[in-house]
Amino acid sequence: MALRIGSVELGSHLILAPMSGVTDRIFRRLIRHCNGADVGLYVTEFISVECLWRENKRSLFMMRKDVDESPFCVQLYGREVHHMVAAGRLAVDRGAQIVDINCGCPAPKVVRRGGGAALMKEPEHIARIVEAMVEALPVPITVKLRSGWDDESLTYLEAGRRAQEAGASAVALHPRTRKALYKGEAHWTLVGELAAALDVPVFGSGDVVDTESYQHLFQPSGAAGVMLGRGAIQNPFLFRELGRFGRGERSPPPSLQEKFQLLRVYYEGLREDYPERPKLHLGRVKNLVNRMTRDRPQVGDLRQRLLRSQTIDALLLLVAEMDASEPVYLEATG
Ligand SMILES: Cc1cc2nc3c(=O)[nH]c(=O)nc-3n(C[C@H](O)[C@H](O)[C@H](O)COP(=O)(O)O)c2cc1C
Repeated sequence: MALRIGSVELGSHLILAPMSGVTDRIFRRLIRHCNGADVGLYVTEFISVECLWRENKRSLFMMRKDVDESPFCVQLYGREVHHMVAAGRLAVDRGAQIVDINCGCPAPKVVRRGGGAALMKEPEHIARIVEAMVEALPVPITVKLRSGWDDESLTYLEAGRRAQEAGASAVALHPRTRKALYKGEAHWTLVGELAAALDVPVFGSGDVVDTESYQHLFQPSGAAGVMLGRGAIQNPFLFRELGRFGRGERSPPPSLQEKFQLLRVYYEGLREDYPERPKLHLGRVKNLVNRMTRDRPQVGDLRQRLLRSQTIDALLLLVAEMDASEPVYLEATG
């Protein structure tokens, strides 16, 4: 049976997780380029409804999508119900087929104002926001939760139930508390509990980075799908790999050369969005290199050389040289 979020059909149960500073239009394009139909949904990085309320240009810019990017979801964060609704309208005007509410961001500047993970302390307020947005907007509304504020207040079941009652079409759970931030492991048994408790599709998010973790965390959970975050940065071909694995197809893992070639694709996109800003290009490409190669001992020397590049041309030259080099960088496991 096809997987749906409300009226929107997803071609795959593998979803690109929202990641601030990462999943902009250019990165999402890169993921589309690498994985095609194996990506079920593209989600923006979170966008502040307060900034949208003040007509902040950068926040509007963050809602941009490619014409062939679909299904497309805009994630919003904030707290004031009427600001959330107004921002949701802007998102729909700009092509959002789904609008997601962030109830998980742990950043102090977000939770201080009662948004992000602070909403996990107030499931009834999550319901208020969902209800108003469902009433006002013509697209499905979803929520992305953490398991709670801390271990003493695990509110994911109540928040999930209330969101569903208020009309949410799907719920995603990153099963860590706000206090845990990104430390320790993601508790996928909580995803399983939530999936069993709700009628709407439940998506799990956390620590799925390869076929082993997909098998051990996602598959036994009973969740409808999985969001891929840091794993998709380290291996932008992860959707394709897991899609093929799920279909019983065997495929060799991408080589590091293949992955590094993507830096050029990314750079081309940046040039389009930010012409004449070479410093920004270099900074953003290095940021991606940094995240892609973190905790990867097999790239040690190359990582350092890429990150020390003084210009984007020098960095891309190193990438080009990989084409001609011996396959010393080939990874054993992808
Ligand atoms: C750099 C970064 C930025 C993130 N930004 C967001 C965000 O904007 N909205 C959100 O709901 N979650 C955000 N997250 C959380 C991820 O969506 C995801 O739930 C979490 O990283 C666990 O999944 P993973 O282990 O697959 O990365 C972010 C995570 C990272 C690493």
